[in-house]
Amino acid sequence: MRNHFPIYNLAKSIIPASRRYNRWGSNRYRGNCDGRLFADLILRYGAKSVADPMIGSGTTADCVRDLNAHGAGIQYWGGDLNQGFNLVTDDIPGMFDFVWIHPPYWNLIRYSQRETDLSNAPTYEVFLEQLTVCLERCYAALNPGGRLAVLVGDMHWKGKFITLTRDVQNLEGRVGQIRAIIVKAMANCWSDINASPHRGTLPLDGIKVRHETCIVFRKPKL
Ligand SMILES: C[S@@+](CC[C@H](N)C(=O)[O-])C[C@H]1O[C@@H](n2cnc3c(N)ncnc32)[C@H](O)[C@@H]1O
Repeated sequence: MRNHFPIYNLAKSIIPASRRYNRWGSNRYRGNCDGRLFADLILRYGAKSVADPMIGSGTTADCVRDLNAHGAGIQYWGGDLNQGFNLVTDDIPGMFDFVWIHPPYWNLIRYSQRETDLSNAPTYEVFLEQLTVCLERCYAALNPGGRLAVLVGDMHWKGKFITLTRDVQNLEGRVGQIRAIIVKAMANCWSDINASPHRGTLPLDGIKVRHETCIVFRKPKL
């Protein structure tokens, strides 16, 4: 399967910056991700059922469609607030071997004005409460032994360092046991491009955040 596409074959916990693989999802959708890490993980874990409750431009859906065209036989469900699915209030329909979630990094990119859009939360504390609800719903939709992968990044906001990656890691126990922490270097970064005193996003001490972190949790087997 890996021969058909330039999927990572992770042996180490660091992914160097590289050009986005544009076959999956859309690079025009702000905050989109490269699907190769997702592809590596579902192949690595042999997941036969996969869900993504915040698909954005559809990166994971496109990836699974391609893998299935080569016989992977993966059952897939995807949703997003932009399609009317609200993870703050709705359960993920079904049970899955693998759940991937790439949430907003709080208000770094505003996706909509809706109250339950995580990018619209009035404070980081409210955002974190909503994200925790979302991750617990992801965990509830995992089969025993299944994995939950959460792709997040830290940011600067009005003179503070927003420790989103640490706060997700601190949910260990509530959303499974941590199995891997993968650091992915970023080539282009919205917070760099838009860092401004007006938005409150200037990097602290001149050190720009240039990486995202994928935290993989595992639900214990029964
Ligand atoms: C970082 S983007 C995901 C991008 C996606 N990985 C891609 O490659 O295109 C985060 C997504 O979360 C969605 N979102 C925000 N709040 C949500 C909610 N309460 N329920 C479901 N989706 C939500 C936004 O609409 C946005 O598409």
